[in-house]
Amino acid sequence: MLPTHHAALTRSALAALSTLVLLAASPCEAATTATITPAEASLTLLTEAAGPRIEPTVYGHFVEHLGTGVYGGLWVGPQSRIPNTRGWRNDVLGALRRLKVPVIRWPGGCFADDYDWRDGIGAPSRRPVRLNKVWGNVPDDNRVGTHEFMDLAEQLGTEVYIAGNMGSMPPRAMAQWLEYMTSDSPSALANERRRNGRDKPWKVRYFGVGNESWGCGGHMRPEYAADLHRQYATFLRAPVVRVASGDGEGNERVTEVMMQMARDDMDAISLHHYTVPGPWEQKGLATGFDRQRWAKTLQEVTTGLEEHVAKTIAIMNRHDPAGRVALYVDEWGMWHDQEPGSNPGFLYQQNTLRDAMVGALTFNVFHRHTDRVKMANLAQMVNVLQALVLTDGPRMLLTPTYHLFDLYLPFQGATPLKLTLQSPRYTEGDISLPAVDVTAARAADGSTHLALVNLDPTRPASVRTGLQQAATGRVLTAPAMDSHNTFDRPGHVQPAPYAAHPGPQGLTLDLPPRSIVVVRLATP
Ligand code: AHR
Repeated sequence: MLPTHHAALTRSALAALSTLVLLAASPCEAATTATITPAEASLTLLTEAAGPRIEPTVYGHFVEHLGTGVYGGLWVGPQSRIPNTRGWRNDVLGALRRLKVPVIRWPGGCFADDYDWRDGIGAPSRRPVRLNKVWGNVPDDNRVGTHEFMDLAEQLGTEVYIAGNMGSMPPRAMAQWLEYMTSDSPSALANERRRNGRDKPWKVRYFGVGNESWGCGGHMRPEYAADLHRQYATFLRAPVVRVASGDGEGNERVTEVMMQMARDDMDAISLHHYTVPGPWEQKGLATGFDRQRWAKTLQEVTTGLEEHVAKTIAIMNRHDPAGRVALYVDEWGMWHDQEPGSNPGFLYQQNTLRDAMVGALTFNVFHRHTDRVKMANLAQMVNVLQALVLTDGPRMLLTPTYHLFDLYLPFQGATPLKLTLQSPRYTEGDISLPAVDVTAARAADGSTHLALVNLDPTRPASVRTGLQQAATGRVLTAPAMDSHNTFDRPGHVQPAPYAAHPGPQGLTLDLPPRSIVVVRLATP
């Protein structure tokens, strides 16, 4: 049975709640009872497109050799007692399949610029053990290499985005990896792939030329990185989308110089944006935060990410007015302090309703910038940073972020619609934000979908639309700001059915405090 907050929320049920019993908005607060008037917002939905379609790859993922993101989380090996298909966990893959994973970036991140692809091919027992010097200095026996990763992608039916090493290997090594994977010729590299068990070439659609070249990828000046990008990209002769390493620190010069000096040798440029609610040294845990931190976190998206994306696009527009080069936000998500007792190099963190709220607001930002944002990759898929799935030996749980991706499925490939929104403010201390954030899109089958986020952790919101249609879908909320799923209580946070019907004033969508509502409008 669903917990009380998961009961279907209908317009009439919520309207009857003139006195709202508020559940604790903070883990540290006792539950309070108060009369709360919903914040009144007003939405006008237009039929005109707000931009090109939301590429499915905006709902992309990222898997790095980091902590238990690969080993343990996704891969257990063919001999494991944990049910698997050629080494990949059946339970985790089953959950991921439901999300229609459009693309996975691999093998890093920072790891990519310390990775030699040759370590990961050939007989598994003969592969070298290397230290993962970037993440915890732990041994990596290379049991997951190119063939295994490509098998994962084929099992999930997803495109691959390979991150090549520009930081510590020559251009020839990068070019040869691409040839090994994609050549149908009788070349020595293609024949080596065949001898290693794969006859048909794989399809590699996206190829990253280095990662964070301003940081772990080589601490390069933008001018040097641009030259190096041109050199490496020159030798990637197979038809791939060549992704240049862009900004990740809010340093506009990186985008500026890369676009100025290397735009003709790239098809996309990356942007990394992590949501960190406070100074880096005081990120705080994923759980146990107060309302100030909640507000600060959401502001980091609605203002911080929005500005980062908009400024980057403005630079791109100057250097590429035709809009040929795409922007890939190929690392995004919340970065908390690692869970106490876990390896600091493993970046293992819990995942709460707040993470899902950040995800929703992030997608809404991406939907507003579909002119350039053609791909985005959550960091990361399993057990690392803002994960979709957490595992503990044979056990697995789905995080609130997983449920968010599930709710937003109708937006993959849909066309964003213009809208105007009048929202009241949500204020916490010196932070003031629109209480409600909305995105809308039309799917290929003509159906219209809305996602509405109520940022206020304590006050419900009512969104008047004037529409004459019913809306049905699901709502994601939870008793506390930091509610999360545990291995003992894996279903604590999960979506519930939601329905609203037009009244005399048209359709009003009632949003519980701290909630995400995704609905499909009935055909008029
Ligand atoms: O996602 C974790 C790390 O964050 C990646 O390896 C790196 O690219 C970024 O700094």
